[in-house]
Amino acid sequence: MMFKKTFLIVGVLMMLFGACSPTSTQKSDNDIEGKVDALLKEMTLEEKIGQMSQVDPGVFGTPEELKAAIKNGEIGSLLNVFGAENVNELQRTAIEESRMGIPLIIGRDVIHGYRTIFPIPLGMAASWNEDLVRESAAIAAREAASMGINWTFAPMIDVSRDPRWGRIAESAGEDPLLNSMVARAMVQGYQGDDLSDPATIAACAKHYIGYGAAEGGRDYNTTIIPDIYLHNIYMPPFREAVNAGAATVMTAFNDINGIPATGHERNNRQILKNELGFDGFVVSDWASIEEMIAHGYAADGKHAAELALNAAVDMEMSSRTYVNNLEQLLEEGKVKQEWIDDAVRRILRVKFRLGLFDNPYVDVELAEKVLVTDEHLEVAEKLAEESVVLLKNDNNTLPLKKGTKVALVGPLADQPYEQLGTWIFDGDENDSETVLEAFNAYNGENNVAFAEGLAYSRDKSEKGFRDAERAINQSDVVVLVVGEESILSGEAKTLAELKFPGKQNELIELAASKGKPVVMVVMAGRPTGLRQTQDFADAVLYAWHPGTMAGPAIANLVFGEAVPSGKLPVTFPKGEGQVPVYYAHKMSGRPASEENWTHIDEIPVHAVQHSLGNTNHSLDYGFTPLYPFGFGLSYTTFEYSDMNLSSETMTQNDELTITATIKNSGKVTGTEVVQLYTRDLVAFYTRPVRELKDYKRVTLQPGESVQVEFTIGADEIGFYLPDGTYTIEPGDFHVWVAPNAAEGLQNEFEVVE
Ligand code: NOJ
Repeated sequence: MMFKKTFLIVGVLMMLFGACSPTSTQKSDNDIEGKVDALLKEMTLEEKIGQMSQVDPGVFGTPEELKAAIKNGEIGSLLNVFGAENVNELQRTAIEESRMGIPLIIGRDVIHGYRTIFPIPLGMAASWNEDLVRESAAIAAREAASMGINWTFAPMIDVSRDPRWGRIAESAGEDPLLNSMVARAMVQGYQGDDLSDPATIAACAKHYIGYGAAEGGRDYNTTIIPDIYLHNIYMPPFREAVNAGAATVMTAFNDINGIPATGHERNNRQILKNELGFDGFVVSDWASIEEMIAHGYAADGKHAAELALNAAVDMEMSSRTYVNNLEQLLEEGKVKQEWIDDAVRRILRVKFRLGLFDNPYVDVELAEKVLVTDEHLEVAEKLAEESVVLLKNDNNTLPLKKGTKVALVGPLADQPYEQLGTWIFDGDENDSETVLEAFNAYNGENNVAFAEGLAYSRDKSEKGFRDAERAINQSDVVVLVVGEESILSGEAKTLAELKFPGKQNELIELAASKGKPVVMVVMAGRPTGLRQTQDFADAVLYAWHPGTMAGPAIANLVFGEAVPSGKLPVTFPKGEGQVPVYYAHKMSGRPASEENWTHIDEIPVHAVQHSLGNTNHSLDYGFTPLYPFGFGLSYTTFEYSDMNLSSETMTQNDELTITATIKNSGKVTGTEVVQLYTRDLVAFYTRPVRELKDYKRVTLQPGESVQVEFTIGADEIGFYLPDGTYTIEPGDFHVWVAPNAAEGLQNEFEVVE
């Protein structure tokens, strides 16, 4: 076999950076480094170790014990402190009563909004709207900062291909590029241009790394990730977050090929800090240092502390193995002074960048002015609207005309808390506008017959069905709002079966039995429930958990005041037995196609082995998912035509321009997310059948056409080898301009030496 020559691009950009002249940021960085050095010289070993410790006051001890520890310089950071006065008081203790007067950094899980709650991150990703995602993070930062919070544990950018995993709700789904978009947008949104601006907070890219690959989708579970997948699938969003200037990174709970992420020296020190050039600090996840004992990787707390520090973890969240053991470990020569100093340097650097030394206190009246303002709610409504994906719309059931007699049915139609989703510590259901409220306001109370049918999503009692039936009988259309309560997705919320809980399927069947059009609106933290139910519905709007403004956003879409534009950030499987199923799969040696797969019912009794469709598929589900990645309908239609490439060949230094015409061939103005995919046909390592390389949102009036243009550099179509070097192999590529990962116009080009 002839191997093709490989071009390696290693560290060129880093070298270029070195050659730049000093900017004002660099000058201020030099200034900060000087101040950090001066502090380090003055600090005792105990004070240094104190900076490396983060505690939750609710878990730590009494308020007096907490203050005493802060005063002694034993704590560098707090998480979950509530209220600006509280934060100010604890800051005052650190600044005025501790010997070094170093301010605390206050962390909190601000994941998809602080008080104004935006769609869950999976929903945000479905908007494919980077500007709106950035804006939502900036709003979350402004609101959180007004409460004294300096640091959020977001963005969560774990590529996840398993809807059983509850934390898929917090990620941007299955694709490295889409997760990278969210990584960049959120880091920029939270941190702004200047971290010392009081309205910005430090971001934390998490969970480094591979947490989304938990075996069986069971949270905290082990992961097996070949290095080539690590670099090409799980690393890109972290690379992007670091490039965008993420101030901190959090290690993950899982082990990777037998080594806990929190004890992974190569991944943390060599790759993250040395190769990616991350100069902020690394924080463990909650007790993930101590949990290395349960993993069977550390013998005890002391051993765990040694392993974590060796693996470049700078700050310990919640457990106390650093405070209890680092001094002794240093005496015994098991850890290096240099690593402790490096950890403290990084932590102080971030505190200086945040401006905490100059401006540690928060104006206690600020929150009043910035929480849930009209402007924030407007953005929340827009993002919720754009995150909803229209999956089905038979006979143009949607949009409904204003004034239609609607039966609004379902356990999530009027649940202000449940529409908010996972991780909403500071969200307030009293701010929520529900679907019922919005329908009443828009369509008139007389035209809305409401019956929840089930009191909550897991409700197994059919008591409410009679009311639901009554509401349906007096209406022309049924709108069902079904799915999962907030608490059923997120951390530790793994499900083995992908179906709506409780008696929702029965409620949906009942609604369909009346012969009236059925619109199903799904609020959920994961792809779920559709295989069993979508045939009963004429239209399906997949809304994720949309947040505070769920009601108006859904009412706008249902009644056509807004046109759906969301596209799936994750493949919808036919059922859990098909998982993992994702668009960027490998071809295999026996790819399945429409012509060569066999359904279980087509196999003759007593058929001989090897007689039928021996290809890569399941006998029951076939080889296609329920809905492909990138899929989403609109109230209008878009036609793709005239795909052209600027050249049939490109070298490893070239760029290629790809154009296609997109026409709005329907009757209303709509927005299409046009996607660019490529495939490297032959490589040293088999490559995915398609990889998303770029996308563009275009808004078109009825009849309007636009030529969409993509430019890709050769450096975007290569891939990382297992050792982390980037390669672009000469040879043939396919390229698609497409409405989703399963369709599109196709062309080809060749990379030449
Ligand atoms: C554990 C979670 O895994 C992490 O995402 C979160 O930020 C911390 N707890 C702090 O609450």
